[in-house]
Amino acid sequence: MGASVVSALAVILVPCLWAVLVRLAWRPHAVTRPFARQGVRGPPYRFFLGNTGEFRAMWAAAASCGATLDRSSHDIVPLLMLHLHAWTSRYGKVFLWWRGSTPVLSLGHYDMVRLVLASDKAGGHFVKPVRMMAGVMAACTGEVVRAWAAVVAAASGGEGAVVEVGRCFRELTADVISRTAFGSSYRQGKEAFLAQRELLLDAMAAMDDGVRVPGVQYVPTRANVRRWKLERKVRATLKGISQSQRVAVMRMDEIIDECKTFFFAGHETTAHLLTWSMFLLATHPEWQRRLRDEVLLECGGGDALNLNKLELVTMVLYETMRLYGPISSIEREATADVELCSGVKVPRGTVLSLPFAMLHRDEEAWGTDAGEFNPLRFREDGAGTGGAAAAAHPGALMLAFSAGPRSCVGQDMAMLEAKATLALILRRFTFELAPGYVHAPAGHLAPEMHVVLKLL
Ligand code: HEM
Repeated sequence: MGASVVSALAVILVPCLWAVLVRLAWRPHAVTRPFARQGVRGPPYRFFLGNTGEFRAMWAAAASCGATLDRSSHDIVPLLMLHLHAWTSRYGKVFLWWRGSTPVLSLGHYDMVRLVLASDKAGGHFVKPVRMMAGVMAACTGEVVRAWAAVVAAASGGEGAVVEVGRCFRELTADVISRTAFGSSYRQGKEAFLAQRELLLDAMAAMDDGVRVPGVQYVPTRANVRRWKLERKVRATLKGISQSQRVAVMRMDEIIDECKTFFFAGHETTAHLLTWSMFLLATHPEWQRRLRDEVLLECGGGDALNLNKLELVTMVLYETMRLYGPISSIEREATADVELCSGVKVPRGTVLSLPFAMLHRDEEAWGTDAGEFNPLRFREDGAGTGGAAAAAHPGALMLAFSAGPRSCVGQDMAMLEAKATLALILRRFTFELAPGYVHAPAGHLAPEMHVVLKLL
C-alpha cells in the first residue's frame, strides 16, 4: 500500500519537478545563449529570483539617499526607471533581464518599438469618445476654476493662495469620466474610481518586484485582505449602479474590467498630464505668458472655447507628455518566435518592454536638446494631427499615446480635456510653484503639486 502511494506520488511529482527545473534552470540558459550570440547582453540570471535581488537592492539604495532634481532638470528616468537606466548604461539600449524566471527584453531602439507596436492587433471594446463630452468637461472645469478663484480672492495681501493642483485634477478628471460613463450615478462611480486608485497603487508597489509565488494571492496577508476589501467595495458600488441604471447585457466581471480600463486609461493619465503641464508652465513663465496670450486671443472671455486654434497650448501638451508622459513604459509578450530589426531573434514567451520615457530622451532621435523643455520642436506638427513626430527629427516618435493599432483610443478626449482645462485656468490665473516644492518625480500616478495662484 505504502509503496504504491509512494510510486503514485512519484509519478505525479517527478514530471512536475522536472517542469519546474526546466523553467527555472534550463530555459533561462537556453534563452540567454542565443541572445548573447546576437550581441544582446544583460544582468545574469539567478536561479528562481532572476534579477529581483539586484533590482531590490538598487531601489532600496535609491530610497535611502532620497534623490531629488533641480527644478530645471527633466532627467527623471534615473528616478522613475532606475533599474532600466542602470542596465542600459551597462548593457546598451537593448538588453535582457529576468523578472523571476520570465525573460524581459528592454527595447530602447525606436525601430524595434515601431515594429512591435505596428504588429499589435487592433482590439478593445471602446469607440472613440464623442464630442458631447466637451460640455461635461467645460462644466466640471468651470466649477474647479470658480472654487480656486474663491480661495485666491479670500487670501489676504495679494500674495495669492497655495493650491494643491494634483488632487484637484484627479477629482476633475474623475468627475468628467464618471459623469460621462455613469450619468446621474456619477457620485458612486467616482467612489469606485477612487477605490480603484488605491488598488492600482498597491498593484504598482508590487509590480516589477519579480518573483511571483503561485497561489500567494489567496493567502490572507495584510496586503491581500486590504485588496479583497477594496475589490468588494468597487464591485458593490458598480453593481449598485448597474442595477439602478440597468446597464443591461454586460456581466459584472465585464463591467468591472471596463471600469478598470477606463479608470486608469482615462482619468489618472489626464490628471497626470495636467499636473505636469502646470509644473512646466510654472517653471517657464515666458511660455505661460505666450499661452495666455494665445488663449485670450482665441478663446476671449466667453463660454465658447475655440480649442482647435490653440496651437501653442497643443505644443506644450505634447512636450509635457514627451518629458513627463503618464505612461512611461508598456509591455508586450511575444506569443510566437519573432525576429526584430537588426536580426534580433526573440523566443516565444519573452516579455518586450518598451521604455517610452527613455526613448523620448534619446538624443539620436530627438537631437541634442532632447533633455530640454522645448515645445517648438512640435511646431510644424500643429494642432490636431496627433503630434506623432517632431518636424526637425522625423525619426523621433512621440509615444505618450503609444502607436499602431492599439494606440490610445482616448487621445482626442484627453487632448480636448487638457486644452479646455488649461485654457480656463490661464484665462483666470497666473501661477508659480510653491516655495517648498521638491522636484523628485516618482511612480506613475498624478503627483501632488503645490502651486501659488494669483487672479489676473
Ligand atoms: C494624457 C492622457 C492619456 C495618455 C497619455 C494615454 C496613453 C495611453 C497609452 C500609452 C495606451 C496604450 C497602452 C498599451 O498599449 O499598453 C493607451 C490605451 C488606452 N487608452 Fe489612453 N491615454 C490617455 C487618456 C485616455 C482617455 C481620456 C481615455 C478614455 C476615456 C483613454 C482610453 C484608453 C483605452 C480604452 C486604451 C486601450 C486599453 C487597452 O487596449 O487595454 N485614454 N492610452
